Amino acid sequence: MENQTAERKKVIFSAIQPSGTITLGNYLGALKNWVALQDDFDCIFALADLHTITVRQEPAKFRRNILEAYALLLACGIDVNKSLFFMQSHVHTHAELAWILNCYTQFGELSRMTQFKDKSAKHADNVNAGLFTYPSLMAADILLYNADYVPVGADQKQHLELCRNIAERFNGLYSPTFVVPDGLIPKTGARIMSLQDPTKKMSKSDENTAGFITMLDTPAEIMKKFKRAVTDSEARVYYGENKAGINNLMGIYSCITGKSYDEIEKEFEGRGYGDFKTAVGEAVVKELEPIQARYNELIKDKAYLEKCYSEAAPRAEAIARRTLQKVMKKVGYLPVAH
Ligand code: TRP
Repeated sequence: MENQTAERKKVIFSAIQPSGTITLGNYLGALKNWVALQDDFDCIFALADLHTITVRQEPAKFRRNILEAYALLLACGIDVNKSLFFMQSHVHTHAELAWILNCYTQFGELSRMTQFKDKSAKHADNVNAGLFTYPSLMAADILLYNADYVPVGADQKQHLELCRNIAERFNGLYSPTFVVPDGLIPKTGARIMSLQDPTKKMSKSDENTAGFITMLDTPAEIMKKFKRAVTDSEARVYYGENKAGINNLMGIYSCITGKSYDEIEKEFEGRGYGDFKTAVGEAVVKELEPIQARYNELIKDKAYLEKCYSEAAPRAEAIARRTLQKVMKKVGYLPVAH
């Protein structure tokens, strides 16, 4: 309507686990996109540190990983003046809503989650209940903030679908309570694959460290990993079938430079893979250099980091509390009288 001023910006929620090294795959597949969304949306980002203990963590290392991940995301361009960026464990509402949602989520639904199946196979000695109910905590994260859109990678799509089902079920049983969120597929980036096995996603848990680039790799390490990247024997740079290695390098190069596949093909016409790998490596080094410089400053400034996440927590809590109160009222709980 004409005279309806300042339409509410759409809300974005996303989170990442502080479970150690953040890779170039995380950056190009998710974080770079989060940074770009900050101007057009009301963005809420979290470090999903409650999710992380579904896999056993060593306390001192876990504590360090959380702080480092927080600093690294700021260094990547998450701007605390534009976005709300907090730690999940600081906002107790997440665990509370997760409990309630657990009671609206079926055993059968959780059993079908492919990530649960994969992770229980991988950590067969610790198939804990948290690993099983991981998706209802994730649903709580999203639903507490009335998120319209959730940028997620392909591996989280099934969890987002379950979140939508839980929200619709609750809304149907009571009355409209939750905003049912849509996934947001990033324009660029998408899936960055391992440099050593380009049919697999780039992952920090790869035993072969040459398969992934971490955000804090030195320029020499980055160049070396790209030079060793697995390709094919055709020696022609184009995007095509049976060219997983080259497709992946083209994806990385395109994501960073903004060039289209056609443009990249032209740029490297008549040139070998050596030249192409060098160019991709150099583009990555150039992209990461300012991030690493900012990270090195930030990680020294513990007081600043502390201030950022400590100011964010109560702001997040205030939003989350309203949703939780609404939910509890609908379920039938009696509020404390003031
Ligand atoms: N499960 C997500 C991952 O490992 C992290 C996550 C937790 C998340 N809560 C979320 C992502 C809510 C999007 C929305 O990648």
